[in-house]
Amino acid sequence: MNITVAGTGYVGLVTGVCFAEAGYTVTCFDTDTEKINTLSAGISTIYEPGLEEMLVQNMDAKRLRFTVSPAEAYSGADFIFIAVGTPEREDGSANLDFVESVAREIAEHARGKTVVAVKSTVPVGTNRKLAGFFNPRSGISIVSNPEFLREGSGIADTFQAERIVIGTDDKAAGDKLAGIYRRFGVPILRTGLKSAEMIKYASNAFLAAKISLVNEIANFCEVTGADIEEVALGMGMDSRIGSQFLRAGIGYGGSCFPKDTKALVKLGEEWGCDFSILKSVIEVNSRQKQKLVNAAIGIAGSFKGKRAAVLGLSFKPFTDDIREAPALEVIRQLLDEGADISVYDPAAMGKMREIYGDQLYYAETPEEAVKGADFAFVLTEWPEITAFPLEKYRLFMRQPVLLDGRNCYSAEAAEKAGLTYVSIGRKA
Ligand code: UGA
Repeated sequence: MNITVAGTGYVGLVTGVCFAEAGYTVTCFDTDTEKINTLSAGISTIYEPGLEEMLVQNMDAKRLRFTVSPAEAYSGADFIFIAVGTPEREDGSANLDFVESVAREIAEHARGKTVVAVKSTVPVGTNRKLAGFFNPRSGISIVSNPEFLREGSGIADTFQAERIVIGTDDKAAGDKLAGIYRRFGVPILRTGLKSAEMIKYASNAFLAAKISLVNEIANFCEVTGADIEEVALGMGMDSRIGSQFLRAGIGYGGSCFPKDTKALVKLGEEWGCDFSILKSVIEVNSRQKQKLVNAAIGIAGSFKGKRAAVLGLSFKPFTDDIREAPALEVIRQLLDEGADISVYDPAAMGKMREIYGDQLYYAETPEEAVKGADFAFVLTEWPEITAFPLEKYRLFMRQPVLLDGRNCYSAEAAEKAGLTYVSIGRKA
């Protein structure tokens, strides 16, 4: 059974390595020669705990290889997973250029009897359109197979998936794909092609909505004197609500929620549907990202001549990904306000430096970042940051104002440590 994965981004690479780990022979394809050379040398191109070791082991076992040749990738494959990006266009819609170009190359090189499973997040109707790229007599069938793994826990999310969605109008192709997932022993849901495409967008929209709703309730808790953590605990005990994704904070980021919510709104417009809830979800999230700098301005009046430390740059812990990270918005605001900024993150410093160069000071430790600062912003709940003792802020900072965007510390302990402490949705 030969599997090819097209695209070695986050989803593609984790998928390829995990299929190899499950015992299949896997070829990962990408057009980026540098990436393929790095991967062929046994070096992971993404930051994902445990992935590099698994990659090397499977390369050594000759179950995993990498190529830039479409002929090599597609001609001998029984299954081809398309896992290339569908980035946001300027108008918010999903750019399908990469997906379409892969489909064209598959049509050219696949030898037939091939199941093409689309993991890329694509608007409803796209897979039907892609099927039109293949000659009906070629024996190539298309299945929608959306991906639900999270950055930072991709391997566990693959082997312990809560569901695998297989959407197709071609039952035999769906059966074949279900067959290769059987080894994972995870629940499989069979649906039509369009429903599978919708499940992906609807799931991300729902999760984003859950976060924005909880953030709005948190903001209201601040005004009324309630405490969002107690409120979320009480809400989460209702199994209809569920206790996950009720963590209030500085807003959601990453390569998925911001892009997919906007794409769904845009898609709705194209079909004459007004996603008014989703529009609010997006607006609440963008306001939430500005909340802490506004609070700091409320305390100090101005950032002129002030120093701000930003602890945590990635959009969540255990990744170096800073796409749409709240830190980007906070840093943009701080630069506009004329602050002097030092930053610290255990994994994402390199990516931040690519954007901001020498506009920021890149500290090697949290201590170094907060030294001499007037404000410290905690934006990602990395263990290295949550373990940083409250006393050290007071000891090292010029004016210890701590703005905790992830509710990492206890408000009571922060005050006891002599800090001016601002968090999200909790009693000040
Ligand atoms: C998300 C989904 O969770 C995955 O199921 C999906 O496969 C993926 O998008 C995708 O479409 O590819 P991911 O973006 O990796 O995964 O990260 P999440 O763990 O979902 O976190 C997203 C953002 O929400 C982070 O910024 C996180 O800090 C924030 N968040 C999450 C909260 O603010 N509060 C919460 O309670 C949970």
